[in-house]
Amino acid sequence: MTKLSVNVNKIATLRNSRGGNTPNLIQVAKDIQNFGGQGITIHPRPDQRHIRYQDAHDLKPIVETEYNIEGNPIPKFMELVLEVKPTQVTLVPDAEDAITSNAGWDTIKHKDFLKEVISEFKKNDIRTSIFVDPVAEMIEGAALTGADRIELYTEDFASEYAKGNKNAIEPYALCAKQATELGIGVNAGHDLSLDNIAFFKENIPGLLEVSIGHALISESIYLGLENVVNMYLHRLK
Ligand code: PXP
Repeated sequence: MTKLSVNVNKIATLRNSRGGNTPNLIQVAKDIQNFGGQGITIHPRPDQRHIRYQDAHDLKPIVETEYNIEGNPIPKFMELVLEVKPTQVTLVPDAEDAITSNAGWDTIKHKDFLKEVISEFKKNDIRTSIFVDPVAEMIEGAALTGADRIELYTEDFASEYAKGNKNAIEPYALCAKQATELGIGVNAGHDLSLDNIAFFKENIPGLLEVSIGHALISESIYLGLENVVNMYLHRLK
């Protein structure tokens, strides 16, 4: 079964644009779960331009499904995650000024750092996942860090698929198989959408979770959040 974790960053972006509490992030997260969403993801950034650190705390008591916090494990982020204790932390090597995540970890170069950070989270019973490009050496490296899962960075697949290049799935399928053989779980995210999710799911063995934000919220403007969540759940069956 592949779980749908909805990234609610864009709800916070919309809220922050007016300075009040509309839309209400907490209510949206509750609704997503009531509509069948199997997880809530947030990606607090150091400038708190969408998700604020306080949001991470406020969401904790209401997320009854899987709570996933993503980010670069700088000390401030680590402290937040260790306080909130989500179900899962996804480590992402994003630069402070990046518009969105744009690369996976070099798991060979940063092996020692990742090992140390991952062991700290695991000591606190937080499942760990690391964001990686679909490259065999990076999956091998991920296995040596002790991470429970990888999150495959799907931007390249999504942009190639949109151009009609279905072969772009191949490195993802190979890396998912390799990760499973190495005993690592497989998540995926970035630029997944109603257009590409069914094809991605069909071709990735053992896909445990997808985290989807930008497209899902954009599609909801036309189709409504409840419909869209259900359309994803249907495609992930
Ligand atoms: N995974 C990671 C590591 C991300 O940084 C993001 C974007 O915040 C996503 C998944 C979700 O990507 P999208 O918003 O394109 O669905």
